[in-house]
Amino acid sequence: MTGIISHDGEKRLVVVSGRAHAELSESVAEELGIELVPTTAYDFANGEIYTRFGESVRGADAFVLQSHASPVINKWIMEQLLMVDALKRASAKTITVVAPFYGYARQDKKSRGREPISARLLADMFKTAGADRIMSVDLHTSQIQGFFDGPVDHLWAMPILVDYVRSRVDLTNVTVVSPDAGRIRVAEQWAAKLGGGPLAFVHKTRDVRTANKSVANRVVGDVEGRSCVLVDDLIDTGGTIAEAVRVLKEAGAKDVIVAATHGILSEPAVGRLSSCGVREVVITDTLPVEDEKRFEQLTVLSIAPLIARAIREVFDDGSVTSLFDGNA
Ligand code: R5P
Repeated sequence: MTGIISHDGEKRLVVVSGRAHAELSESVAEELGIELVPTTAYDFANGEIYTRFGESVRGADAFVLQSHASPVINKWIMEQLLMVDALKRASAKTITVVAPFYGYARQDKKSRGREPISARLLADMFKTAGADRIMSVDLHTSQIQGFFDGPVDHLWAMPILVDYVRSRVDLTNVTVVSPDAGRIRVAEQWAAKLGGGPLAFVHKTRDVRTANKSVANRVVGDVEGRSCVLVDDLIDTGGTIAEAVRVLKEAGAKDVIVAATHGILSEPAVGRLSSCGVREVVITDTLPVEDEKRFEQLTVLSIAPLIARAIREVFDDGSVTSLFDGNA
């Protein structure tokens, strides 16, 4: 069946999917025990997108799944906006934008004059299109939730990543490392989950005039002989992580495992990560990881069960927070 009917027969849940990460959408639907709404989507010769749902969505609680995947991230955002518009005009009762990776989240403030606040604009565009609610995983900064005028379900991949990493390290010898000073709070939460060991961070500087350019200067904290767990929200070109691994090794770290939620893995991430001396890189599949992006040290964990459970909680008027009880 293509949807779920509530116990009292009053509500209907449907999931529609864009084309960016069909595999994840299929897995989420499978976890929910439903089929995706049959959908037509294609590009016109000039790049414009056409989309249409193959069955009625009238009165439904609709969830629109699309991860803002590279390299045509703007196309996938536009496709999701069009799907929201189509749902609104087809009389869906509620529309939830599910963006496991939410694009433009790194541009959440003006660092210099005459810059846009792109993450805010994106939230406004979803609102204008007709979205009632947004669901995403590990937004770059939590305050982005306030950019959308409506409920935002901010899911955490940390429990999934921690469960896996715990089985891969000697918990008596772990130091959790933040790749920059800004993520110390997250590293603290990781350390608490991994037995309360010490923390360290990498002093990183970034050239705001050049995209994806950062330099790891030195490690703050003692990592000599320690198994380091380096945690970040996303890996884009791999520069931050590869540099951090380099300085950790120079500072005497025994080995380094990287845990990050979103594997954007733009060029030259694969080359950098596979040759930087890291023991393992653990990510989730919030974004597609094509075969050419897979390398020996890479482990990809499924985010589908978490997204499916969150969708179910929203539909049942349950509690998304309950999914993280004991983990917050
Ligand atoms: C920075 O604030 C982010 O958390 C990531 O560390 C950064 O954006 C990753 O980019 P790249 O992999 O290109 O260094």
